[in-house]
Parts: sequence; C-alpha cells; structure tokens
Amino acid sequence: MATVLTEKQGSVFEINLNRPDKKNALTLAMYVEMTALLKQAAEDPNIHVVLFRAQGQSFCAGNDISDFVSAAHNPNILQDVLVFLHTLASFPKPIIAAVHGDAVGIGTTMLLHCDLVVSADNLRCKMPFVQLGLIPEGASTLLFPQLVGHRHAFELLVEGRSFDAIKAEQLGIVNQITEPDLLLETARNRAKKLSDSPVDSVIAAKQLMKAETLKSVHQVIDSEGALFYQRLLSEEAQKAFMAFLQK
Ligand code: COA
Repeated sequence: MATVLTEKQGSVFEINLNRPDKKNALTLAMYVEMTALLKQAAEDPNIHVVLFRAQGQSFCAGNDISDFVSAAHNPNILQDVLVFLHTLASFPKPIIAAVHGDAVGIGTTMLLHCDLVVSADNLRCKMPFVQLGLIPEGASTLLFPQLVGHRHAFELLVEGRSFDAIKAEQLGIVNQITEPDLLLETARNRAKKLSDSPVDSVIAAKQLMKAETLKSVHQVIDSEGALFYQRLLSEEAQKAFMAFLQK
C-alpha cells in the first residue's frame, strides 16, 4: 500500500500521509516520495497550492525510529531527509497543512515551512529531540526563536514540552482550529480560495516574505543536519531508540 497518497482538487495538489498504523511516522521512502511530489508540483503550472494532510488518528509521529537506528550505519541515508527539508523550505507556491492528533518531531517542525496551518482541536505537538539524545532539525533552532522568542522556543525545543492546538495558535504555529470532522473541509476551502487568487501575485508575495530568512534557513538545515547525525550515533540516542522500539 502506498505510504503517500496524492489527490488533485482543481489546482490544489494534496499530499496525504498514509501510514496510519504507525501514526504516519516518516520512512526514508516517504521523504524521497514527498520530495519528488513537491518538485513536480513546483514545475506544474496547473498546480497553485499544495495541501499536506494525513490519514488515521495522527498527522505524523516524526521520523521513523527504526530508520534512525539503521541510519547510524549509513550516513548517506540522512541526506534524503535534508533534501526534503530544503525542497519544502524553498517551495515557491503556498503550502497549507491540515493537522490533527499527534504531530511529533518533524511532524511539528515541517509546519514552520507551511504558509497556513489548519488544526483539529485534538492536536498534540511535541518535539522530543533532546530527550531522545538528538538536536532539533528543520531549521527549527532558527525559526522557533524568531517566531516565539528564545524562552518559549527553549521550552518547546529543549524541554520538549508538548502543547495543544490552542497553544499552537497562540504561538503562531496554527492559523485556525476546527472540530476534527471539519478539518479537511476547512483546509480545502482555504486552499481553494488561495488557488483561485492571482497565482503570480501569490508566488511573488510568498517569495518576498521568505527571501530575507531563506538563505539562513538552508544554512541552518545543513548545520543542524551535521550535528543531528553525530547525535544519532551517540549512546544516549541509540538507547532511547531501542527503548521506544522495545516498548
Ligand atoms: N517510529 C516508528 N514507529 C512509530 C513511531 C515512530 N516515530 N511512532 C509511532 N510508531 C508506531 C508504534 O511503534 C506503534 O507500532 P505497533 O503498533 O507496531 O507497536 C504504532 O506506531 C502506534 O504507536 P503507539 O505508540 O502505540 O501510539 P500512541 O497513540 O500510544 O502514541 C505517539 C502516539 C506518537 C505519542 C507515540 O507513538 C510516540 O511517542 N512515537 C514516537 C515519536 C517520536 O519520538 N518521534 C521521533 C521524534 S524525533
């Protein structure tokens, strides 16, 4: 069964995570697939907006922890994650995310690269990188402090404190909260409206809004990536992964 589904609704291209039995934890194959889909969507003039969504009870439980274990023996593997993050960060057209349930690790940090986030009221975000012996990724060490200030960012990224939809809206990570049953419809309505707007104006506005920080974002993705790989090999991280997998 495909772990990433796609659907075209007019000029909105939906990328739908489909690994619900594993809470949509992202495998390396899923990163490769999403990168290819984003590149295709960037090129296709008939696609104006991308909508990320997910099947099952959760948006995304972060990186697949089994892949973290095997990545320790193959440094090139992490490359696929970095390529996805760079592609997401510089994607030229609007990205909307429809999120619900658990959003862990990259399930939360990828939202920093989305332009609008619609959330179900049952959202639970958590970035337990440090608790797993890792470091935050996805340029979150740059973008979170910019968004919420150092102290709130420290709570989220270093203490790994979890937060709900209301807090996510207060912090500026989420634009709108809905009941779970209305999530997809609400996100699709916003995507449709956006996709009907003058496309070149939308793309130019997004480009101008992001231009200032984008160069730093790419640098930070790489510097976090190098440290992340070192931490992946650490005894603390390997112990934490084994503890999760044996649970
Ligand atoms: N990697 C691999 N498998 C994962 C996973 C991950 N990141 N997250 C969840 N799963 C798997 C579980 O092992 C379980 O598989 P099983 O049914 O074969 O045993 C299944 O998904 C359901 O997860 P479970 O933990 O039973 O669900 P829950 O509702 O009790 O908890 C979470 C949901 C997301 C809070 C919990 O799964 C979790 O903490 N996952 C790890 C998140 C994480 O640390 N990600 C990395 C961040 S850097």
